[in-house]
Amino acid sequence: MIVLGIESSCDETGVGIIRLGEDGSMEILADSVASSMQQHARFGGVVPEIASRAHLEAMPQVMRAALDEAGIDKPDAVAATVGPGLAGALLVGASAAKAYAAAWGVPFYGVNHLGGHVAVANLEGESLPHSIALLVSGGHTQLLEVQAVGKPMKELGSTLDDAAGEAYDKVSRLLGLGYPGGPVIDKLAAKGNKDAIRFPRGLSKAEDLRGEHRHDFSFSGLKTSVARYVERAEREGRVISVEDVCASFQEAVCDVLTAKALRACQDTGAKVLLLGGGVAANSRLRQLAADRCRSAGVELRVPRFSLCTDNGVMIAAVAAQLIHEGAEPSGLACGTDTSLEVEIPLVAAT
Ligand code: KG4
Ligand code: ZN
Repeated sequence: MIVLGIESSCDETGVGIIRLGEDGSMEILADSVASSMQQHARFGGVVPEIASRAHLEAMPQVMRAALDEAGIDKPDAVAATVGPGLAGALLVGASAAKAYAAAWGVPFYGVNHLGGHVAVANLEGESLPHSIALLVSGGHTQLLEVQAVGKPMKELGSTLDDAAGEAYDKVSRLLGLGYPGGPVIDKLAAKGNKDAIRFPRGLSKAEDLRGEHRHDFSFSGLKTSVARYVERAEREGRVISVEDVCASFQEAVCDVLTAKALRACQDTGAKVLLLGGGVAANSRLRQLAADRCRSAGVELRVPRFSLCTDNGVMIAAVAAQLIHEGAEPSGLACGTDTSLEVEIPLVAAT
C-alpha cells in the first residue's frame, strides 16, 4: 500500500510518499519540499498570508516532483496535516489533499502535525518505545510524552511566549544578523565564550519547578535581557563581542531545553528522548542533550535533519502507522484546527 502525505502547517510545502508493507514496515519513496522561508526574511519571521500563497503556488510542482520521484501515478491513500498550524496554510494543504483524494478515488486521512514529528523516529531504526519528545522549531516548543507512534500523546509542557526558534530569530534580528537566526547564531556561538554573560533561564527557579510550570518554557525574558545588555553597552560606548553574546544566549536556551527534557524523562520514567523541529539542528543543543542523556542513562534519538524540519514524509508516516493499525479514514468532511490537541493523532470521520 502506498501512502502520500501533505504538509503545509507553516512555511514548508511538503509531499512525502511511503510504501507500507503488510508487516507494518515503511520505506520512503519520495520526499519533496519547497520552503517560503526566503520570502519571510525581510519581516524577520513567518508572515501567514505570504505562507498561504506560497503553499498554493508550490503545491502542484511539489506534488509532481514527489510522484515522479516515487515513480507512481497515484497513491492508495492521501493524508494531510489538519492541525496545529497557521489557519490559511493548513487550509491550502488540506484542501489540496482532499481534492487529490477525491480525484484519485482514494481515502483521506487528516492527521496531527506534532504526531508526524514523532513518527519519523520509526523510519530510522527500532519502533519508538515510551519516550519524551522535545519538539523545537520556529513554531513549536513542546515536551510531549509519547507511548508509541500514532498513539495519543500527552503535552507535559510548552512555551508560554516565544518558541525556541523564534527566540533565536528575534535575538538575531536585534544583533543585526538576519533571518533565520538559528544557523548564524549557532555558528558565531562556536567562536564565543558561553560563560561570558549569565543570561536568565526562564521558569527554572526552585519555585517554578515546584509549581504548574515545571515543564513549561519562557524565552521572552531572555530575549529582553539580551536586548538590555546590548543597549547598555551601546549607551556606555562599549564594544560587545557578538560571539560571546551568541554563545551565552545559546547556552541559556539549550541549558533550559535539555534540563527540562531530562526532568520530563525522570518524572515519567521514559528511557528515550527524541528531538524534532528545526532547532534540533543546533550543535550545542545536540551536545548538551547527548551529555545529559548519557549521565541519566537515557537514549537520545535525533532523526536526520531533513526529517526534523517540516516535511510530507512525517505526515505519510503517521498515517501509514494508523492505517496499519486499522484506523478508519477521516473523510472529506474533516476540517482543519489551528490548535488541534496532541491527544488526537487522527481526526475521526464525522
Ligand atoms: O522546523 P523549522 O524549519 O520550521 C519552522 O518552524 O517553520 O524551524 C525553523 C527554525 C527557525 O526559527 C530557525 O532559526 C531555527 O529553526 N534553526 C535553528 C538552527 N537551524 C534552524 N536554531 C538553532 N540552531 C540552529 N542550528
Ligand atoms: Zn513542525
